[in-house]
Amino acid sequence: MKPSAPPQTYRVKSFGCQMNVYDGERMAELLAERGITPAPEGEEADLVILNTCHIREKAAEKVYSDIGRLVLAGKQAEANGGRQPLIAVAGCVAQAEGEEIMARAPAVSIVVGPQAYHRLPEMLDKAVQGKRATDTDMPAIAKFDALPARRKRGPSAFLTVQEGCDKFCTYCVVPYTRGAEISRPFSHLVAEAQKLVEAGAKEITLLGQNVNAWSGEDDKGRRTGLGGLIRALAQIDGLARIRYTTSHPNDMEEDLIAAHGEIAKLMPYLHLPVQSGSDRVLKAMNRQHTAQSYLKLIEAFRAVRPDIALSGDFIVGFPGETEADFEDTLRIVDEVRYAACFSFKYSPRPGTPAATMDGQIAPEVMDERLQRLQQRIGAHQLAFNQASVGKTCTVLVERTGRHPGQWLGKSPWLQSVWFEGQAAIGDLVEVTLAEAGPNSLKGLVREVLPA
Ligand code: 5AD
Ligand code: SF4
Repeated sequence: MKPSAPPQTYRVKSFGCQMNVYDGERMAELLAERGITPAPEGEEADLVILNTCHIREKAAEKVYSDIGRLVLAGKQAEANGGRQPLIAVAGCVAQAEGEEIMARAPAVSIVVGPQAYHRLPEMLDKAVQGKRATDTDMPAIAKFDALPARRKRGPSAFLTVQEGCDKFCTYCVVPYTRGAEISRPFSHLVAEAQKLVEAGAKEITLLGQNVNAWSGEDDKGRRTGLGGLIRALAQIDGLARIRYTTSHPNDMEEDLIAAHGEIAKLMPYLHLPVQSGSDRVLKAMNRQHTAQSYLKLIEAFRAVRPDIALSGDFIVGFPGETEADFEDTLRIVDEVRYAACFSFKYSPRPGTPAATMDGQIAPEVMDERLQRLQQRIGAHQLAFNQASVGKTCTVLVERTGRHPGQWLGKSPWLQSVWFEGQAAIGDLVEVTLAEAGPNSLKGLVREVLPA
């Protein structure tokens, strides 16, 4: 690899989950500290970071096609007197397939795992000297301590509070790519949240692969769970909304459920994946809960917050899934009446137990089941939105709409709402929900709340 001039501009492309979006922002902050600036829209960057996702095969394969495209664009740029970009691969594909990437893609200078990206600046120095650098260590807490202060601006911000997973669902790569469960300390999180609010955040979404497994000691040295952390963050002036994602049914504590009935800033929304409605499949997935225990939890949330919007993740076509198992999944969708859902075809991931299980399902069966599931989910989503018509709520304005005077934001139930009127990004606007579609609602403005 040839030495190159230090990069002056960067672009971070994040794929996959919200944790990757958060990590991408933090990498950008590291680069900004070094005076490297975001490449202007439409221009090639000197440094491109592909912040990858390994959760399903399609997501993981994307990295190689992206590298191919960057090399081609770099060649064209060189022909016009420009430069080849430095390419860094970050995220979960880097963690899982770092060596393979280095072997398969000579154009890649840096491979950095999700727990090692605080060392990106040193790796960049090496890359500029023409030396390729790989770091896939997993010293999770060290990363957060080594990162610069938050610079994020914007009304809605992510805050990683917990990382990693000890659950080992048999289909999932996360325990291998993100490592063991760790919780960031309470005081660090309160401080980071305060910084985000000072920088303009009105809403903070707490992130973790098992966010409700977060555990720490509060400022008085008492053991506290996610409910306690949320209660503390709710004290921050200027912070209007708190959300969290993703939860695991087995880590749900009473105090977090209770917080939904007591903390007005905690939004009435819960993402609680169940994956399947069949106990047989849940067992093979090593989920360690049943459909019934999951439904009981949902009931407990509805008891304290009857309007709570529920969302979930589903996998169809897990090895051995029969038509009857799949019908159990449709049944649980009907019982919960989800406001939104994510559903996926099972994707065998190398190194996970399910990848070598008997009874792998044919692609056309998976296609057909996914279609039926999505139809059912879509019907409930539309019904949830229609039932919201007539309600008055606040919308946190996130961006302008397609036409002048139009604004787009989120309701407390995480629905996309658009409205016309006087507003600015970051405003909390009171609207009455007037019309509902499957993916968005129209609001009529009542008043703009003072910031
Ligand atoms: N195949 C398909 N979907 C998967 N998920 C995780 N691993 C796989 C896999 N191997 C889904 C689960 C999880 C979401 C983030 O991705 O539904 O909750
Ligand atoms: Fe993957 Fe299961 Fe852990 Fe979620 S709980 S990250 S699905 S292993």
